Amino acid sequence: MLKMENRQRIAIVTGANKGIGLAISRKLSENGTLVVLTARDEVRGQAAVKKLQDVGVKDVVFHQLDISDPASITSLKEFVKINFGKLDILVNNAGVGGVELRSPTTLIEGDSESLFAAINETYEMSKDCIDINYYGTKAMCEAFIPLLHQSKSPRIVNVSATFGKLRFIPGDSIRKELQNIDNLVEERLEELMESFLVDCKEGRLKENGWPDRTFSAYKVSKNAVNAYTRILAKNYPKFIVNCVCPGFVKTDLTYNTGTLTAEEGAKGPVMLALLPDGSPSGQFYNQTEPTSFE
Ligand SMILES: NC(=O)c1ccc[n+]([C@@H]2O[C@H](COP(=O)([O-])OP(=O)(O)OC[C@H]3O[C@@H](n4cnc5c(N)ncnc54)[C@H](OP(=O)(O)O)[C@@H]3O)[C@@H](O)[C@H]2O)c1
Repeated sequence: MLKMENRQRIAIVTGANKGIGLAISRKLSENGTLVVLTARDEVRGQAAVKKLQDVGVKDVVFHQLDISDPASITSLKEFVKINFGKLDILVNNAGVGGVELRSPTTLIEGDSESLFAAINETYEMSKDCIDINYYGTKAMCEAFIPLLHQSKSPRIVNVSATFGKLRFIPGDSIRKELQNIDNLVEERLEELMESFLVDCKEGRLKENGWPDRTFSAYKVSKNAVNAYTRILAKNYPKFIVNCVCPGFVKTDLTYNTGTLTAEEGAKGPVMLALLPDGSPSGQFYNQTEPTSFE
């Protein structure tokens, strides 16, 4: 058993070896939370923990986690169950952009348009993006809901993006289905993700109402994360479940074109992870401010 203070909160942060996830882990730990910092790569994850410990951050332990690998999720679940018997905070931060850089030389710092113009996206990248950003997030929630039930103040924070807003889905019927949270169920959300991937493979994104360029799979995956967040909030009224755009952050995901530091990007997710009881659930935030799903 790992040593933990009585009544100390336990958090898992996914994709925490770098970028916003690493900054979230640091802030939560400095706040008195015991953080299970996870990364898909053992070496990169251990190095991240050492980096935090070297600057005096104590309450952080490492566990390997690839959110697209069910066996890896099960192994983490056993680790948390055996050592803590509960989970208080799940921060689903791990994500990919679903694109590759075509022309790095044209990137301009702080200019998202230069990034949009420099990328390329293939079916394989799109599939990876949906698998990791949506299905990985969902698999993590499903695996940890029983341990979150053991917490007095369960919190789930899904790190989403402004691209997850409904206005980035051009097709009226798809957008209305995602918007109609009272009727939307997880099975239908999965059917929509599968239709997107079929249309992506067959080159029919535009004609079938999907975003057809500039982070198309990313927009669809984050719309699905937002809808799933709302479904979870409805199904688990004792939990506080929210999603958040961290802002335009200088990390590998934006090829360092962002305007905010990782520490600034972590502010919204950390605020939501530490919300007091009775706070709103099923909401979308832009950094630390509530924003609309539209
Ligand atoms: N940066 C922005 O401007 C921005 C804006 C809106 C939303 N976001 C969201 O913020 C979150 C963090 O992104 P970031 O900007 O910090 O990007 P980042 O520096 O590229 O970090 C992404 C993290 O996710 C991990 N990851 C990817 N696939 C994974 C998998 N299958 N299992 C476990 N971990 C995995 C990466 O691990 P590896 O190192 O092994 O690849 C890395 O640790 C993402 O959800 C992103 O969509 C970022």
